[in-house]
Amino acid sequence: MTGSTRLRTAVLISGTGTNLQAIIDARDSGQLNIDIVGVVSDRPHVKGLQRAADADIHTEIIDYKRFARRADFDSRLAEKLAALQPDLIVLAGYMRILPEETVSAYTGRMLNVHPSLLPAYPGLDTYARALAAGETWHGTTVHFVTPKVDSGPPILQYRLRIKESDTEPELRERVQQGEHLIYPRAIEWFADGRLKLDNGQVILDGKQLATPAVVEREE
Ligand code: GRF
Repeated sequence: MTGSTRLRTAVLISGTGTNLQAIIDARDSGQLNIDIVGVVSDRPHVKGLQRAADADIHTEIIDYKRFARRADFDSRLAEKLAALQPDLIVLAGYMRILPEETVSAYTGRMLNVHPSLLPAYPGLDTYARALAAGETWHGTTVHFVTPKVDSGPPILQYRLRIKESDTEPELRERVQQGEHLIYPRAIEWFADGRLKLDNGQVILDGKQLATPAVVEREE
């Protein structure tokens, strides 16, 4: 770890930042032994940037609309991340696909939360798709990031039953409450040295996780 016993953590966002807020709150409550060394957004004016500023966290905006070439955006982001010297990168609602080079540079040190019970429903619109398919269960997954989107080894899932009356916003709200619980928990495991990725396998407390750990909502 670089210069501190607290884990240097960078958070990438694109929007509202409720997961970022949950991470900030968990840090403030002492649950997370991390320093949030920077919050990077690919969009200006998003609420997550305000949340970071309110918590006195350094912010960077790399507005993807200002880059004619995708490769230029990617290298700027890679530079900014490298400058932050993160021990851990947390994707929290970050909506752009990272290039393989960047993901590979942080193998085993980059986490994402995706609102589905992976491997089901990678990609967008997971709530609408799960409802349309008449699924009984939905939820969210914290996973290590690998170059293939939403396919990295899963660590921790929050599962809940879909209600017959559920609308997309209602389902999203319950799933996001779960994210705010499980994302800080997985980061805590990582920061405490309990969680790692070894040869593509998730190791928690010295044991390989063949399937993700699960928190189930009771109701
Ligand atoms: C989260 O629900 C997460 O699952 C998805 O993007 C959403 C971001 O929400 N990857 P927020 O910006 O953290 O509020």
